[in-house]
Amino acid sequence: MKRNVCTTVCLVAVLLIISLRVSGQALIKMNTADANQPIPKEIYGQFAEHLGTCIYGGLWVGENASIPNENGYRTDVLNALKALKIPVLRWPGGCFADEYHWMDGIGPRENRPKMVNNNWGGTIEDNSFGTHEFLNLCEMLGCEPYISGNVGSGTVEELAKWVEYMTSEGDSPMANLRRRNGRDKAWNVKYLGIGNESWGCGGDMRPEYYADLYRRYATYCRNYGTRLYKVASGASDYNYDWTEVLMKQIGRRMSGVSLHYYTVAGWSGSKGAATRFSDDDYYWTLGKCREIEDILKKHIAIMDRHDPQKRINLLLDEWGTWWDEEPGTIRGHLYQQNTLRDAFVASLSFDIFHKYTQRLTMANIAQVVNVLQSMVLTNDKGQMALTPTYHVFKMYSVHQDATHIPLDITCEKKAVRDNRVLPLISATASKDKSGTVHISLSNVDLNDSQTVTIELDGLKAKNVTGEILTAKHITDHNTFDSPNVVNIAAFKGAKLNKGTLQVTLPPKSIVTLQLTIDK
Ligand code: AHR
Repeated sequence: MKRNVCTTVCLVAVLLIISLRVSGQALIKMNTADANQPIPKEIYGQFAEHLGTCIYGGLWVGENASIPNENGYRTDVLNALKALKIPVLRWPGGCFADEYHWMDGIGPRENRPKMVNNNWGGTIEDNSFGTHEFLNLCEMLGCEPYISGNVGSGTVEELAKWVEYMTSEGDSPMANLRRRNGRDKAWNVKYLGIGNESWGCGGDMRPEYYADLYRRYATYCRNYGTRLYKVASGASDYNYDWTEVLMKQIGRRMSGVSLHYYTVAGWSGSKGAATRFSDDDYYWTLGKCREIEDILKKHIAIMDRHDPQKRINLLLDEWGTWWDEEPGTIRGHLYQQNTLRDAFVASLSFDIFHKYTQRLTMANIAQVVNVLQSMVLTNDKGQMALTPTYHVFKMYSVHQDATHIPLDITCEKKAVRDNRVLPLISATASKDKSGTVHISLSNVDLNDSQTVTIELDGLKAKNVTGEILTAKHITDHNTFDSPNVVNIAAFKGAKLNKGTLQVTLPPKSIVTLQLTIDK
């Protein structure tokens, strides 16, 4: 009898342990009273550099290509990007920007000089995609252009004239040159980057020297129409001194200062394969991606000290994963595949970005097509695959310009390599202009589902629907021949229950819920 009781107790204990293992528990409290900060749509910005096949082959094939195109732009890519509602597109670099001479990229294409793209594989650049091609693309996508000016190897005169060429409506030499090149009306260009990574590929400068150069360049970049929003070339990662010096010596002469942060294993040696990695590598990646929060806080603290009224913005104008190039692709072209792991880097990053938008007003993932953590991959046979990251951008697009609802999240945590701690649940929420509430949730656990109770803090939700992004394996990805291995599906795992929402998130899943609210 005693033995039977023991056996039963042990059995119950084992069952309990199993049931706990198959579903973790998490609690999320919404703070609707503190919901007052908008999520600028520019947090969902993109970046296109003359690098590998981002521009040539990816966005642009030229009017005479056999690949279907609209005035030279790939039709499939254009349509895919239109569906993402891209708010802003940064161009022409990156490192390329500081060797780019814009006058080489205007006028009849057959007369445009060639150059060597020294930063990216020594590829020959024929300048067939230039200012007109880029700014017209922005108009077609309905997004704001963000021009990155050449400070490293250019001149003040060159950048000043580029601004005049793009934005002057007057009877001025550069505006007339633009007219002769077929464009009568000035384009609407607001964002102007004064250099890129000026501490590195953009001129290897000291912050004090760059600050002086910035002041000189900015003086001559005039406002012709829309007031220019000038962005100083900011720090990377942990270079807090760079931000400190720029805040002190440039101050309000800049509208914003940039920051770059890549989820990368290091700058020398292998960065790891995009599609072949261990579970341990996966968790490490998410830990590294989440480190951006601490870095943001520290740069913001410096900015707060110099600019307590928050007039100067922080723009994370390069971010994302950086893996080894795909075997068999050209060295220096940064072509990498994109798995469900990359999708988590996107969702977790957005969850963080949404919390800092009092200062962080733009983020541009690197890069839009065929380079690093891209939205779409293309080949020269006219095929295209949407990446898992694309799907996250799509699912999260509901948060653009909505009001952020702060969340308190209590969940299990996991210790990961390099002494980092990874919460198993990440989430964000917002209320859009029509009053609809969206909640995005990521369960990063590879094996266990998570039951999440969300306290709605008085919101009278009458209906919930949802979408989910998951796959069989964390290494799953989309290819030209199998483009739907990782794709968005309808989600039925959320139920409303007396002021709370009960959600069961499958392992390694990203969900966005839509709640219709009774007003
Ligand atoms: O995005 C690729 C490169 O990364 C950019 O050209 C440069 O700014 C950064 O180092």
